[in-house]
Amino acid sequence: MDESVVTPWEVEGEIDYNKLIKQFGTDILTEELLNTIKKYTGDLHPFLRRKLFFSHRDLGWILKKYEEGEKFALYTGRGPSGHTHIGHLVPWIFCKWLQDKFDCEFYFQMTDDEKFMMRPDLTLEQTHAFAYENALDVIALGFDPKKTFIFSDIDYAKTLYKISIQVAKNVTTSTAKAVFGFKNSTNIGMVFFPSVQAAPCFLPSVLKGYNVPVLIPAAIDQDPYWRISRDVAPKLGYYKPAAIHNMFLPGLEGPSGKMSASKSDTAIFSVDPPKEVDKKIKRAFTGGGQTIKEHKEKGGNPGVCTIYQYLYFIFEDDNKKIKEIHDGCKRGEVFCGECKNLLSEKLVKFITTHQENREKAKDVLDKFLLKD
Ligand code: TYM
Repeated sequence: MDESVVTPWEVEGEIDYNKLIKQFGTDILTEELLNTIKKYTGDLHPFLRRKLFFSHRDLGWILKKYEEGEKFALYTGRGPSGHTHIGHLVPWIFCKWLQDKFDCEFYFQMTDDEKFMMRPDLTLEQTHAFAYENALDVIALGFDPKKTFIFSDIDYAKTLYKISIQVAKNVTTSTAKAVFGFKNSTNIGMVFFPSVQAAPCFLPSVLKGYNVPVLIPAAIDQDPYWRISRDVAPKLGYYKPAAIHNMFLPGLEGPSGKMSASKSDTAIFSVDPPKEVDKKIKRAFTGGGQTIKEHKEKGGNPGVCTIYQYLYFIFEDDNKKIKEIHDGCKRGEVFCGECKNLLSEKLVKFITTHQENREKAKDVLDKFLLKD
């Protein structure tokens, strides 16, 4: 098996999350921490119960700050290279829950600059336009407009630049190379860019004029940025940002690699017509036998099944039901068609509601935007 690669730009291969925790030097999300969260929230979000979020940096610290009366802000983002897919929605859905439970301000960065610089095929106009398309998906999830601040790097550059250059001054090229794997052929915009993604870690503190703890929910691929941000924070007089990491929702072609917008057949986009969603699910890779006969005889393997993973992590919250599906599949009694129908029904319902909310978001977009 190939070594899995996890940089913010490339996630391929079967991912060993325990190895990643070691490799990145993050901490596993323990039962003890989950219980601490529960103390404040009353219940646990299904993404926590099902361990879709599995790793963190300094989560215990941020909860302690909260207990002491210091509210934390949330920060996450999107590189607007195209439409949003349901993998992207994972950290955002979780942020909405955190905002409700902890009454957090929420800062959302659209890195239209990053996607322009890294993608030879995209113009600045395109990434900038996608920033606002993607913002509709964020707003559609129901965030509080009074406490949610979405910004495109290009349109909020004046504020961000001042913070970015302070970060940049404290990061050497050799550190950036070691953390992000930059080569001599990498354009210099990309080499500077990590300081732009680091800037919002300190933005709440800059805007408020006092130190604000910041928690970043995102998939683990973004962690290299937080390593840099955390190194620099004390030098600039800010708190180190805390992070909580989710796993990748797999692409529909199978368990190796993540759902990726650049492979459109393997991803379900927030703007896909419901019929298209259904079609994509029906074509997806499963853990079932090649034929019904083989499935009945040998049973299936939910461990490699994308349909099962979507149900387990997001769309089937009922513990009893998910166990029935899992065990039934292994015994060869639950068939791929049934699981596909179940997922399609749930996903189509979700997408339909999301698309309605996305339309409504167009009328209120301005209320959420930070611009210079
Ligand atoms: P981007 O656009 O690649 O991804 C947006 C968010 O989605 C997460 N993600 C996934 N989560 C689950 N399953 C998947 N298949 C999947 N694919 C992507 C990413 O981890 C990310 O949280 N440079 C960033 C934009 C950014 C950002 C941030 C992200 C700027 N500031 C702060 C997170 C936090 C990017 O290109 O993300």
